[in-house]
Amino acid sequence: MTGLKDRIAAELAAVRERSLAYTDADDDVLTRQHSSLMSPLVWDLAHVGNYEELWVLREVGGIEPLRPEIDHLYDAFKYPRADRPSLPLLTPAEARKYISGVRGRVLDVLDRLDPADPDPLRAGGFVFGLVLQHEHQHDETMLATLQLSRRPGLVRDGELPPGGAPAADPEVHIPAGIFSMGTDTVAWAYDNERPAHRRHLPGFWIDRHPVTCGAYLRFVEDGGYRDPRWWLPQGWEWVERTGVDAPLFWTRDGDIWWRLRFGREEPVPPDEPVQHVSWYEADAYARWAGRRLPTEAEWEKACGGREYPWGDAGPADLAYRANLGHRAARPAPVGAYPKGASPYGVEQLVGDVWEWTDSWFQPYPGFRSFPYKEYSEVFFGETYRVLRGGSWATHPSAVRTTFRNWDLPIRRQIFAGFRCARSED
Ligand SMILES: [Fe+2]
Repeated sequence: MTGLKDRIAAELAAVRERSLAYTDADDDVLTRQHSSLMSPLVWDLAHVGNYEELWVLREVGGIEPLRPEIDHLYDAFKYPRADRPSLPLLTPAEARKYISGVRGRVLDVLDRLDPADPDPLRAGGFVFGLVLQHEHQHDETMLATLQLSRRPGLVRDGELPPGGAPAADPEVHIPAGIFSMGTDTVAWAYDNERPAHRRHLPGFWIDRHPVTCGAYLRFVEDGGYRDPRWWLPQGWEWVERTGVDAPLFWTRDGDIWWRLRFGREEPVPPDEPVQHVSWYEADAYARWAGRRLPTEAEWEKACGGREYPWGDAGPADLAYRANLGHRAARPAPVGAYPKGASPYGVEQLVGDVWEWTDSWFQPYPGFRSFPYKEYSEVFFGETYRVLRGGSWATHPSAVRTTFRNWDLPIRRQIFAGFRCARSED
């Protein structure tokens, strides 16, 4: 069991290093609201510490609140993001001091943890998995904020493997049958991934790779944004209201399409999975292409029933398998990860871009809210669409084949793309 505690301590150190790197900027960058969709970066920074205090120190450690007067400021349900800059938030220096004070005590609680304790917050170190994944999720949110800031020089880039030759079979057939969806066994899985349950799906076809910028550009140039035939009524209403005519951060200059990526313009790379498209755009593209979005059940079945599409192995040889954990600040070209294929041969399911699915965010049969209703339950219904698979910005410990993300169908600042599917004839 020491192995587990060492792993948790190492992962806590790594995620904090990541959060501090994304907030290693002038106070003006950290306290400004770069978009009404996002919090100021300094809010995210103090919020991850406050969440860690609530769950690890108070709930599990039984420790008195360190700064009860600030709790309400960092309660994600209390104030909308647009109002957060006008709150009396901690300054960047105060936030760093506060979260490091919390972290010191968290390590003491970890020291005393008995992972065999049957209490569900303690068993297998669940509460530490909760705060680790939460902080990585906010780190991804911070990257989205940094992208929206349009300022160069704040986010590091890196190397990625080259793309592959065009696939001989761009679609993969998944035969009809029963599969097990969700999980009972992944220790740090969230309530919404549970319980594992059997589902029958008819046979279907799914794209081997996510839809590329080059393919998406054909939809743009074919007048896809001017033709209501391809759009659901709410999607068409959104197009008309906002005037969108391309993915977020794309602009046309003559015959060349450019994209803005962390403050720098570059030509749109044809072989990369398209990102920064809304669910409505993904859905319209699919209809234009004579296809549809996969359901989340189809997406998960295409992964082949393991924790990652290539197996249950964790991050050790990940560099060859998937583009996760901000190796570079972009998706990898399609075909870059043949060793990350699922048993069916579907590639890049995990990493690169979150993939919109056709499904609403709904509970699985037998769902039980844990550890609190505001994690998942309050979002269930026909408001949010499910995204799967994580992006280049997602940390490997914060995604798996059963992981479910959700967002509004108009959202485009997240690192989201999609792949298409179709039913058997
Ligand atoms: Fe949060």
